[in-house]
Amino acid sequence: MHIVICGAAGQLGSELVDLFKAGGADVSGFDLDMDITDYDLVMGSVPPLKPDLVINAAADVDADGAESDPDSSYRVNFTGNQNLALAALESVCPLVFVSSDYVFDGTKGEAYSEFDMVNPQSVYGRAKVASEVYTAAVARRHYIFRTQWVFGRYGRRNFVKSIIRNAREKGSLKVVTDEVGKPTGARDLAGIIARVSTSGRYGLYHATNEGVCSRFEFAKEILAAAGMPEVPVDPIMHCDLDLPCPRPPYSPLDNMNLRLQGFPGSRHYSEPLAEYVRWLTDGNMD
Ligand SMILES: NC(=O)c1ccc[n+]([C@@H]2O[C@H](COP(=O)([O-])OP(=O)(O)OC[C@H]3O[C@@H](n4cnc5c(N)ncnc54)[C@H](OP(=O)(O)O)[C@@H]3O)[C@@H](O)[C@H]2O)c1
Repeated sequence: MHIVICGAAGQLGSELVDLFKAGGADVSGFDLDMDITDYDLVMGSVPPLKPDLVINAAADVDADGAESDPDSSYRVNFTGNQNLALAALESVCPLVFVSSDYVFDGTKGEAYSEFDMVNPQSVYGRAKVASEVYTAAVARRHYIFRTQWVFGRYGRRNFVKSIIRNAREKGSLKVVTDEVGKPTGARDLAGIIARVSTSGRYGLYHATNEGVCSRFEFAKEILAAAGMPEVPVDPIMHCDLDLPCPRPPYSPLDNMNLRLQGFPGSRHYSEPLAEYVRWLTDGNMD
């Protein structure tokens, strides 16, 4: 099986490369060396490889920056995926697109399933919805995975690493209480994507670890796992931060379709968190 993975240097893409290679697949990984926004480059690079599966794990995840520069965000998060959908169509193979809880407004008051209506409140969220719709329309065989609060060994940034670094450098933290979701380990997420995207059961899936918390609660758990439970954390509200991108206040994703289709359940996020923090504090902070 030959798999093309875009965003292969990111948190999720790197784990997917590792996992598929370990499973014996032939993997072509691309990141900024194949700019997915370049139609000619994508069409000239992907179909000649004759892939059996194209995975789009590339994204511009700067949701705040997207509010002041929407073109840049839509170019990667919509047009880039459009190009990969067209490349998958040309290759006569399925496409994997990775979406986000930002497709929801976060006002439902309970977890969102795949059967809830989307209502994005931000440029990043609208780009994800547009890409989901485009993927479903153009890549006839497709898998769409919505996830949230991803952390892992690879990539440039994540919340867990930021909390530990800020605790060490500043000695105290302020973290929001009015953002609630499900932290998700990148390796666990890659496991779900690898399992489902080779099953032939095309469709839309919510894909997270289990366990719901606020950013504030998650920060306290991260500090405890890192052996710094004494670091003071002040609860604040999003309005105190004045960030350009509105976050969904309560957007845990219920992995309902995975459950309905009989796929195995996910671990609680505390397990991948403990593994990751152990790895980070074992000399891998930089
Ligand atoms: N991280 C989260 O909490 C989260 C939550 C919900 C959904 N998601 C979605 O999950 C997927 C994977 O996220 P992630 O956390 O793995 O993100 P990530 O670590 O930022 O990885 C994305 C990769 O794509 C690369 N990239 C950016 N623009 C590109 C372009 N034009 N062409 C090719 N590659 C490009 C990035 O390079 P640079 O780093 O150099 O820009 C990065 O290596 C994305 O679709 C994201 O929207 C993530």
